[in-house]
Order: sequence, then structure tokens, then C-alpha cells
Amino acid sequence: MRTHSKFTLWSIAALLGLGLTWAIPSWAAAPGGAPGGAPGSAAANAAGASGRVSFADDVFPILQNRCLECHKADAPGLAFSGLNLETYEGLMQGTRFGPVVVPGNAMVSNLIVLVEGRAGIRMPHNRKRLTACEIELLRNWVNQGAKNN
Ligand code: HEC
Repeated sequence: MRTHSKFTLWSIAALLGLGLTWAIPSWAAAPGGAPGGAPGSAAANAAGASGRVSFADDVFPILQNRCLECHKADAPGLAFSGLNLETYEGLMQGTRFGPVVVPGNAMVSNLIVLVEGRAGIRMPHNRKRLTACEIELLRNWVNQGAKNN
């Protein structure tokens, strides 16, 4: 029984740990929807500080200017990776290997990894990198839940 209770303790600890790591990013990512996140609360103020990012107004224009040249029908980025950036749905579908956006987690979203240059290849491929401001917008949009807003 000793081993059994030890096992139970570890399971509880592991569950709590998991709960925490999931709770923190989702709370930080969607301040508006945080439990008890009433207008004027600390969470709502934090959202105001980083600014609400819109897909249509902020994100899509960046993709359009800097990525669509290659990530649309009959262009090399789409041909090589399967990533079609013409629509929100295309972006969320990702490459033929899987998603490039993990809503709420810019750290592990390949879209952000690539524009930040944290991987072997950088996007836009063979073009001037995005500005810090553009990268910040993409990062905040992903962390705010990557909504079609
Ligand atoms: C000049 C052409 C070009 C431009 C501009 C471009 N890409 Fe790409 N992209 C490519 C090519 C080619 C590949 C395939 C690379 C490979 O598989 O080695 C690719 C692949 C990708 C991938 C998938 C990488 C993987 O993990 O397989 C992502 C994500 C991506 N691009 C995002 C972007 C974003 C975001 C932009 C705009 C900021 C952008 N690309 C602009 C050509 C381009």
C-alpha cells in the first residue's frame, strides 16, 4: 500500500503541475475571458496594455504584404510547404505537416518561430525580415487566441 499511496501522491502532483502550466497561458492569453475578468479588473487592464489585435485589420495586411507573394495558389511557398495564407482558414490549417499556429501559445507556434528567426529557416524566405512591431502584432494575436476577429 505504501507504493500505492506514493503513486497517488505523484499523480496528484503531476495533475496539479499540468493544471498550472495550462492555466497560466490560457489566463494570460485571454484576459477578457479570464474567470471573473470583469471590465476594470487587473486582467482587463492587462489586455488594454498590450492591445487587442484583429486578424482582419492587423494580421492579414502583414501576411498580404509580406507572405502572399509565395503562399498562394501556384506560388513556391504553397507548393513546398502546403501553407496557403490567402485566408484565415488556410493559415489555421497550416502546412501539410500540421498547424503553424497554436492558439494561445506563440512560443511553440511555427508561424512565430519562423518570423522571429528562431529556426534554421526564416520567413519571409529570402526577403527582409518583419519589423519588431509586425512580429509583436503576430505574437500578440496568437497569444490572444488566434481568433478570426
Ligand atoms: C519568397 C517566397 C516566400 C515568402 C515571401 C514567404 N515564404 Fe514561407 N515558405 C516559402 C518556401 C519556399 C517554403 C518551404 C520551405 C521549406 O520547406 O524548406 C515556405 C515555408 C513556410 C512555412 C512552413 C515551414 C515548415 O515548417 O515547413 C511557414 C510557416 C511559412 N513559410 C510562413 C511564412 C510567413 C508567415 C511569411 C510571411 C511573413 C512567409 N512564409 C513568406 C517561401 C516564402
